[in-house]
Amino acid sequence: MKYAITMVTGKFGKAVINYLMDLVNHNDIIALARNVNKAKQELPDDIEVRPGDYTNKDEIVESLNGVDKLLFISSQPGGDVSRLQQHKNVVDAAKKAGVKYIAYTSFPHADKADNFLSKDHTATELYIKEMGIDRSFLRNNWYLENELATLKAANDGGTFVYAADNGKVGWALEKEYAEGAVKVLTMEKPKEIYEFAGKSRNYDELANALKPVAANDFAIKDVSLDEYKDGMQKAGLPDAVAKVVTDIQALIKDGELQEETDDLENVLGHPLTPIEEALKEIL
Ligand SMILES: NC(=O)c1ccc[n+]([C@@H]2O[C@H](COP(=O)([O-])OP(=O)(O)OC[C@H]3O[C@@H](n4cnc5c(N)ncnc54)[C@H](OP(=O)(O)O)[C@@H]3O)[C@@H](O)[C@H]2O)c1
Repeated sequence: MKYAITMVTGKFGKAVINYLMDLVNHNDIIALARNVNKAKQELPDDIEVRPGDYTNKDEIVESLNGVDKLLFISSQPGGDVSRLQQHKNVVDAAKKAGVKYIAYTSFPHADKADNFLSKDHTATELYIKEMGIDRSFLRNNWYLENELATLKAANDGGTFVYAADNGKVGWALEKEYAEGAVKVLTMEKPKEIYEFAGKSRNYDELANALKPVAANDFAIKDVSLDEYKDGMQKAGLPDAVAKVVTDIQALIKDGELQEETDDLENVLGHPLTPIEEALKEIL
């Protein structure tokens, strides 16, 4: 059984390779990277690296030659080629190369979600289905690492600022989602849909979990979305970035990341890292 992983120079891909190396023969792992030299430098010598630029379909067809199972890690928005087109390239390439199964890292409740982050994932899930390839959708909730700037500001004795009100999030460490992905990829009979998430919490609960492990005491402030955006701009974030992070707060406020599921722990077969420990780890 040959396993291919995309985007291996990224944090998620690298964590996946680390977990996969413990479970399968290293000869059975094929690492796809946009930058092959970078991947060769970063990965162990016995892992085969092949080209995998999502904007180059033909290159990916060739790289997926002989691959049975593909872990397809979602790309990032904002490139010259749209993220959806990049994703379609990967799926087309997998189909052409005869890949039998795709595990795709998706968005929470991608079939029902309707927000600026979910659209490409909804369309990609549909496209994989239309292509008739066996699949699992790994609907990853939120990486705890996404909150690093807020957590650091508080840890340094500043203020823990958020605007998502009582909106709930299923935070877990990025590497825990990666481990879940590897478990599904190597399963004999995986399910089609996994809603992967940690325990559901709001920002106030997250801030209070940080209190006992933070280096300094800090204040917690729930502000309006407008105040949040202003604060981000004053802190020096470019307008476009301030808008995106504020839109994410709005999406959380609207309950788009609200989740009650044990899928991740069930697949991992062990409990998730307790929140205080996870916070210490990323800080
Ligand atoms: N659920 C969540 O909370 C959450 C949060 C953040 C991200 N995500 C998703 O998770 C994915 C992985 O995150 P990450 O932390 O691994 O990101 P990362 O560390 O920033 O890595 C991004 C990776 O994407 C690669 N890449 C960019 N454009 C590419 C292209 N055209 N073709 C092939 N590879 C390309 C980069 O390659 P180079 O090394 O060549 O630049 C790099 O390997 C993201 O892309 C995003 O879809 C989810």
